[in-house]
Amino acid sequence: MKDIGVLKKEAQKDIIRASSISELDGVFRVYLGRKGSISELLKKIKDLPAKDRKKNGAQLNILKRELEDLVARKRKDFTEKIDIQDDEWIDVTAPGVKLPQGHLHPLTKVLWEIEEIFISLGFSVSVGSEVEDEWYNFDALNIPAHHPARDLWDTFWLKDKKKLLRTHTSPAQIHYMQETKPPFRIVVPGKVFRHEATDATHGFQFYQVEGLLVAEDANIAQFRAIIQEFFSKLFKRDVEIRLRPSYFPFVEPGFEVDMRYKGSKWLEMMGAGMVHPKVFESAGYIPGKWRGIAFGIGLDRIAMMKYSIDDARLFHSGDIRFLEQF
Ligand code: FA5
Repeated sequence: MKDIGVLKKEAQKDIIRASSISELDGVFRVYLGRKGSISELLKKIKDLPAKDRKKNGAQLNILKRELEDLVARKRKDFTEKIDIQDDEWIDVTAPGVKLPQGHLHPLTKVLWEIEEIFISLGFSVSVGSEVEDEWYNFDALNIPAHHPARDLWDTFWLKDKKKLLRTHTSPAQIHYMQETKPPFRIVVPGKVFRHEATDATHGFQFYQVEGLLVAEDANIAQFRAIIQEFFSKLFKRDVEIRLRPSYFPFVEPGFEVDMRYKGSKWLEMMGAGMVHPKVFESAGYIPGKWRGIAFGIGLDRIAMMKYSIDDARLFHSGDIRFLEQF
């Protein structure tokens, strides 16, 4: 009979070296399986001389248990390792976990859409400044000091009383005309500030998009066509608007454009008109040579209409529950 000590060493070495469960199963079969070395030896015990039977039988049974024990521990090693691998395994078919993600503010979304529409209508986008000289915000726009029209725009003044937070985006008209020869068409979006009591449709800060088209033949019919196109592109449906005669010192004639909502109500969306000769004069243009269309769109109002929001103050509330919905 093969030396039991040698068999033990070989079996232990093979079990320890097994590098996978299937290899371990193979080693198990070789030594401990029904036809494995130990089983074969146990079968031969009966052929041994009586004196050796008991001793060899006992030794083989001890070895069998030891090896079974070793295989069991090794198997556990593998299964524990596989548990860890299981954790790391990625099921590419499992539905993903949605990570919290930032997104654009509804006013930014609407602004970008508005810019895109005007670009498609041949306008370019320019910028203005939130802090303005009194002259650009008022005088250059035909609103001299002490003129009652100044009361239309309650103003936040800076400490030196010469500078202010712009009350509308219209001063950008003057800056642009001072630097640019017509013909051109631009839009200038930006934040404006008014020292006003707030309600659902009036903020003390809000956004406007100024529009200015200067050409030799600019006219009101052209303005109406541009604005109608703007509204139908933005709202992607038939929108009813009306031009209502109104007064702004920097246009003549002047209008307000209202949009119908909730059936019978109208909301004022923008001021507009033909550029006043005094404004061309402030910008240094040759009198009588140019005609201009100017308009100032209330961006918050447009966003209210687009998203059916009843209270524009929500846009500036920073309330994440509101903002998350866009
Ligand atoms: C102006 O500010 C003029 N500069 C617009 C203009 C430009 C007229 C060029 C002619 C030529 P008004 O004060 O009406 O006008 O404001 C323009 C738009 O801003 C309004 O139609 C409205 O949609 C929006 N708006 C006015 N006040 C507020 C406010 N407190 N809160 C939110 N939106 C406002």
